[in-house]
Amino acid sequence: MPNSPGSSTSNKPDYGIDAPGVVRNLFIAAVGGLTLYLTARFGLWSGAIAHVGISYAGLWAGLGSGIMGSWMLYDSKIGKLREREKLLDLVPWRGDESVLDVGCGRGLLLIGAARRLKTGKAAGLDLWQAEDLTGNHPDATRENARREGVADRVDVTSGDMRKMPFPDASFDIVVSNVAIHNVYEREGREMTMREIARVLKPGGRVVIHDIRHVGQYASALATHGLIDVNRVGSKLLQIALGLITFGSLRPDIVTARRPAV
Ligand SMILES: C[S@@+](CC[C@H](N)C(=O)[O-])C[C@H]1O[C@@H](n2cnc3c(N)ncnc32)[C@H](O)[C@@H]1O
Repeated sequence: MPNSPGSSTSNKPDYGIDAPGVVRNLFIAAVGGLTLYLTARFGLWSGAIAHVGISYAGLWAGLGSGIMGSWMLYDSKIGKLREREKLLDLVPWRGDESVLDVGCGRGLLLIGAARRLKTGKAAGLDLWQAEDLTGNHPDATRENARREGVADRVDVTSGDMRKMPFPDASFDIVVSNVAIHNVYEREGREMTMREIARVLKPGGRVVIHDIRHVGQYASALATHGLIDVNRVGSKLLQIALGLITFGSLRPDIVTARRPAV
């Protein structure tokens, strides 16, 4: 019998694979490109243009797609667990905060934040879109919280980040990891920034990591009255991934806070 989203025989948390459709397509492109190259090399089809042009295009496209797909798999399985601690280190924790993870998925930051709390609580908000994360379901998030020993500090809510089901000034800390770019219209992402500013308490802090649009988030947060708005991601990684992916991936982190008044 297949496992339900929250169940597994392992007791390790499972934070899923991001953008599974993209990873699958990259591996299909890798196999296709390398097949093109190898069949030309072994003389299964002929012609000077074929050998020099198309077969080498296949080789580079195949290698590029394979490397990208492997990097995405590595990041989902290993890299993002390391990255979450670096992101959470950007907050000076007391332990009594109320925290919101926007687009929490299976709870990577939500549960990481809950592990740093003593008396505080962490809430996760998501729409559970299957195309954005494998096994994306609130039961999977709760199960991960149980496996990491923080189930009593974690709450999961279903809802849209563009219109959050929380009163004004509800949270001390708002975090988000590779989620907001999944809102495809600029207007929707700006609505999300307005919502983040609205639900943040005076003196509260924001940390957002995303693969694109981070400059836009920074401007919108400043427009909604947040201060100390800083982009603190690695410039080297941004340039390298920007070049490799023709500008599609430009990962960055923005931090900001609401004035204490
Ligand atoms: C790539 S996953 C990242 C999940 C998690 N933050 C992590 O780091 O593993 C993106 C998440 O954003 C959620 N999402 C996309 N659009 C959303 C929206 N409008 N409101 C709430 N969640 C949304 C998806 O359901 C998905 O769980």
